[in-house]
Amino acid sequence: MATILDGREVSKIYREKLKKEIGEYKSKGYREPALAVILVGDDPASQVYVNNKRKACQQVGIKSLFYHLPEDTSEEKLLNLVRELNEDPEVDGILVQLPLPKHINPQKVIETIAPDKDVDGFHPENMGKLIANLDSGFVPCTPLGIKILLDHYGIDVKGKDTTIVGAGYIVGKPLSVLMLNMDATITVCHIYTKDLKKHTLNADILVSATGVAHLIKEDMVKEGAIVIDVGISKKDGKIVGDVDFERVKEKASYITPVPGGVGPMTVTALLLNTVKAYKMHLELS
Ligand code: GUN
Repeated sequence: MATILDGREVSKIYREKLKKEIGEYKSKGYREPALAVILVGDDPASQVYVNNKRKACQQVGIKSLFYHLPEDTSEEKLLNLVRELNEDPEVDGILVQLPLPKHINPQKVIETIAPDKDVDGFHPENMGKLIANLDSGFVPCTPLGIKILLDHYGIDVKGKDTTIVGAGYIVGKPLSVLMLNMDATITVCHIYTKDLKKHTLNADILVSATGVAHLIKEDMVKEGAIVIDVGISKKDGKIVGDVDFERVKEKASYITPVPGGVGPMTVTALLLNTVKAYKMHLELS
């Protein structure tokens, strides 16, 4: 039976530390950190994610500014809001929730966010800093949350065969670079991968980030593997991950649950990135 990698518990520890740190800055007379969150449209899943992020900000003492724009908002209007927030000295981070409506080019929006406020780490400048392994940028929140979770449980990834299923811009791609920087041996699989099972079975660390419910079955997992489930989907009215948790947990050495694994860690990483931006802006150490 695997040890559960408890994202809620680890998040609690990190959020309490952040709350204390922010409280200390405020008691010294500094303004509070601020994160601007922009949601375009009414996608129910995005609304839940955005609410979780805003609540977490309030918990630790980060001011959360919320811009809820209608679905038919023009690209130019959204870009202008981002430009305004870029110029606002009281805003530390800007997050535009993805996905955006089809008439808006997400890459254009990402490139408009000032890199020093890009707490999602999606701007090409921050992605470039990740590849260059420079600490001055922002690492995307889900990869950073996974790193913190692994570190917390003392899991050393050095030299481990790591298979990442999913090559998206938000998780798979940046996570592959982050874990390469941690000296893991990386395989990235995607929809054109010929033999997925061959690669998952080889993995000492298996990460799945596809959003396909229960894609990863017990016969695709090596005995003793560390299994990280980034997927969130609905199956028979229940929230489930990419991994068939009940069966795979019998085979893995460590496993993240869904919910309560990577999800809260992603939000915790966002809080950490926002405080990092705040400290850069106020030149605090
Ligand atoms: N949609 C799904 N994950 C994310 C994320 O980490 N950041 C943003 N902005 N949108 C997302």
